[in-house]
Amino acid sequence: MAIWNLGSVNADMVYAMPHLPTAGETLAARSLDRFLGGKGANMSVAATRAGSEVHHIGAVGPDGAWAIERLRGYGVGTDHIAQVEVPTGHAIIAVEPEGENQIILFPGANRALSQVQVEEALSLAKSADILVLQNETSMQAEAARLGRQKGMRVCYAAAPFDADAVQAVLPYLDFLILNEVEAQQLQEATGKEPGALGIKDVIITLGAKGARHIEGDTGTVSDVPALPVTPVDTTGAGDTFTGYVLSGLDLGLTVAESIEQASRAGALMVTRRGTADVIPSLQEVQAARF
Ligand code: RIB
Repeated sequence: MAIWNLGSVNADMVYAMPHLPTAGETLAARSLDRFLGGKGANMSVAATRAGSEVHHIGAVGPDGAWAIERLRGYGVGTDHIAQVEVPTGHAIIAVEPEGENQIILFPGANRALSQVQVEEALSLAKSADILVLQNETSMQAEAARLGRQKGMRVCYAAAPFDADAVQAVLPYLDFLILNEVEAQQLQEATGKEPGALGIKDVIITLGAKGARHIEGDTGTVSDVPALPVTPVDTTGAGDTFTGYVLSGLDLGLTVAESIEQASRAGALMVTRRGTADVIPSLQEVQAARF
């Protein structure tokens, strides 16, 4: 089986800051590092490092050949990443010493995907495959509808959160991953609790409290506690968690086993500075002691 990821590809500029800047403040960074990023690319790399075959569907600009090369180097399938005339997406990420961040996103080429491109890519997908989407590209609802038509398991990571974007894909979803604040926002927008939206599996990440799995069919709720770590950079940890969860499902683990493994991967990730380039391998995740 394989994972098809309609996802963003960004250049991440990560600035180590003494604190997160407030409105009107000019603040010098302590250092600058550049990484491959984008919620989509991070998830593709995470799922690949967890052992899955991943095909990334995305777009970069004339300045983005390096990103395709790097993804390919990490083992991600890049045949369906288009090169378009719009510049590659990028993110300006401020990280404070305790690991919390603030992100300015330039979507760029990520919003220039075409329907034809998505149709061509998904024509090669099989019904047993997984399709994952996040809210950093164009063509989300179109891809979700196609995935559902093909009988794929359609998953959505509702980040960056936008209630309209989630509602546009809701009818096609088998799996939804979002955080506590996003779950509350979605409930306000739909008038329903996330577990009552008709989605088979919902995972709500609870930060330092861990993660909650809600089975849509039965309403069964299971909590997985967080692992004790001291964060230095939380950027990309959620994407790592999602990539590992999906890879677990792809490789035949139960949802509970997938969440448990993904929690370990996410915990390890917050102890590292950076995004796609530093996502831990399965071997590192299994060997980590918390
Ligand atoms: O979730 C982290 C990601 O958000 C970064 O890699 C950045 O590119 C933004 O998409």
